[in-house]
Amino acid sequence: MPPAPLLDVNNIEVIYHPYILVLKGISIRVERNTITAVLGPNGAGKTTLLKAVSGLVRLERGRVTKGSIMFDGERIDTREPEEVSRRGIVYVAEGRRIFRELTVEENIEAVAYAWNTDDTDIVYKYFPRLKAKRKIRAGYLSGGEQQMLAIGLALLAKPKLLLLDEPSLGLAPRAVSELYQNITQLYREEKLTILLAEQNARKALEIADYGYILENGRIVLEGPAEKLREDKDVKEFYLGGARREKGGYRTVKWYRRKKRWV
Ligand SMILES: Nc1ncnc2c1ncn2[C@@H]1O[C@H](COP(=O)(O)OP(=O)(O)OP(=O)(O)O)[C@@H](O)[C@H]1O
Ligand SMILES: [Mg+2]
Repeated sequence: MPPAPLLDVNNIEVIYHPYILVLKGISIRVERNTITAVLGPNGAGKTTLLKAVSGLVRLERGRVTKGSIMFDGERIDTREPEEVSRRGIVYVAEGRRIFRELTVEENIEAVAYAWNTDDTDIVYKYFPRLKAKRKIRAGYLSGGEQQMLAIGLALLAKPKLLLLDEPSLGLAPRAVSELYQNITQLYREEKLTILLAEQNARKALEIADYGYILENGRIVLEGPAEKLREDKDVKEFYLGGARREKGGYRTVKWYRRKKRWV
């Protein structure tokens, strides 16, 4: 029998209070030491999936109402978020949650204190750009640097599974490239497992091993990243190549209707 995946999300349904059904039977597997991408448009349910895994849906009056989530062989969908994070699942939210009024160094100290660790060099090791900025208030950093800090702070928790929610959001292409290089190096050297939600499918599929495409609360396509990169519909709808060649809104609409998984 193959070894159990680190994370096994089995046919979950998530409902936000009172009856907003957002995830409609989602199954994903995240193997150890891999990067797994969850792709999809606005409102598809990517964030909800990551919050279901980390237990944070509960804080938004959401519930996993069907299915189960197994982490490292144990069921976690019934646990409180603190307990889930103690087991090694760390969620880096959309929108760069950092202490904007504190310097880079103070951010690191505060979070290291909370996680009871002295091992703070890891942040500068993988995000060397932050070292030169350590005395600067985080609010004054560039978007890319803020995202680096947010991920760096998550490392202080010594995650077994890192959940990254749209790290590229709102960043210039060069900043995205640098950030993704840092993430790749971090992943390789620390032997991390990463679940990455992105609208930027091109970038995510460059570094991912396996990907899922989520639309309207359902998985519509999944496969190894190299297969998805070559898939005609993925190219058309998520990698944006063919659309530009064919041009024109009418053409796009026609293609939309022809999407094979609808
Ligand atoms: N706390 C909440 N209460 C009710 N509905 C919510 C809540 N959070 C999200 N939703 C709804 O759930 C759906 C999925 O949202 P979600 O944020 O998971 O999507 P997403 O794929 O992360 O989108 P984006 O790319 O914009 O971040 C949306 O229709 C959204 O309006
Ligand atoms: Mg989101």
